[in-house]
Amino acid sequence: MRRPAVPAVAALGAALLLAGCGADDPASPPRLSVSAAYIPRPVSDSMAAGFLTLTNEGGTKDQLTSVTSDLGEVTVHETVDGRMKEAGSLTVPAHGRLVLESGGSHLMFEKLERRPKEGEKVSVELHFAHSGPLRAELPVKPATYRPATGH
Ligand code: CU
Repeated sequence: MRRPAVPAVAALGAALLLAGCGADDPASPPRLSVSAAYIPRPVSDSMAAGFLTLTNEGGTKDQLTSVTSDLGEVTVHETVDGRMKEAGSLTVPAHGRLVLESGGSHLMFEKLERRPKEGEKVSVELHFAHSGPLRAELPVKPATYRPATGH
């Protein structure tokens, strides 16, 4: 019989919570993190979409201004009246989240250097108006994958 693995992340999570104690200061700078990042396996040779959630634990909003990746050219798209269009930038509210999700805002990869396979990871670098760049790894999921929604 196998023993269940003890999640090592529990201790790490507690450390992160302690480190987050300054978050009550309304003027604290943006503090961003990425979660729920993925790319549905592209069904086209030339385009792919990417999704992720940006959480801001700081007291100041920030803007996602651009994204780079070795997979291809990336633009940030928003969906307005069912049609997608390029967004100049997207706001990550203070003490809030910016959710890029299927049917809404998303990352658009074009001129793909390769067609990524399921299980592969695509790295991106997110650029902001105020915060330093953030790197994220987007695992490639099945084309029909939908994350469990947390909202
Ligand atoms: Cu798009």
